[in-house]
Amino acid sequence: MTVPRYWLVVPAAGSGQRMQAECPKQYLRIHDRFVIDIVLSRLLNSATFEGCMVALSGSDQWWPSTNSCADSRVTTCKGGAARCDSVLAALQALGHEARDEDWVLVHDVARPCLAHTDLSALMTGLAQHPVGGLLATPVTDTLKQAGPERQVLATIDRRLLWRALTPQMFRFGALRQALMSAAGAGLSVTDEASAMEHMGAVPMLVEGRPDNIKITLPADLALAGFILSQLPDQPVH
Ligand code: C5P
Repeated sequence: MTVPRYWLVVPAAGSGQRMQAECPKQYLRIHDRFVIDIVLSRLLNSATFEGCMVALSGSDQWWPSTNSCADSRVTTCKGGAARCDSVLAALQALGHEARDEDWVLVHDVARPCLAHTDLSALMTGLAQHPVGGLLATPVTDTLKQAGPERQVLATIDRRLLWRALTPQMFRFGALRQALMSAAGAGLSVTDEASAMEHMGAVPMLVEGRPDNIKITLPADLALAGFILSQLPDQPVH
């Protein structure tokens, strides 16, 4: 049995307009560190990756101020118009080094609260799986389907519903093919699993912690700081 190889891809080319900040959210600070530095150091210090590709916006002027930019394990490439374009660009940039059967983990730069235990559960839990999968958490709220006037049309049975988180982990060749195929079909997929599903693959859900939040709104930054200070496995300082 061959030892699996893992690559890390971090799409970081979003503008994060909902944060209403003067810089993209990965360059906001938590405990005096850039979000992107927290994300990359947490991942790179808790697992062994062959390499790490970060997709940056062409107009990014903040990356040179980070600690990560001096980290020899990290390489950057230019992202695209949507998240899926940025992930595909990163895979293409790794294309001459990664093998089709290698695993690639894709993690949002806006999720700094990933617990080491969740990363390990994903990597070890799916290491021998043919397709791969993603961290996810069961929906706990009651879900309403709304009509055009915001009137309740139905209450959705939540027992089979999960929230998709990251990292998402798939075979390099299959994921690249799936993202190219989605792009060719004009589909703007919002996660890697959807691209794989469009190819007929069946990704697995690995239950992760619900506090692996994506920083989206201004209030999320303070919440992320609190979560990080409570995680049992973290030193963020
Ligand atoms: O905006 P949202 O939070 O959904 O973005 C999710 C992730 O996708 C973030 O890590 C963001 O930087 C990334 N992204 C990207 N390229 C884009 C849009 C978003 O890399 N064009």
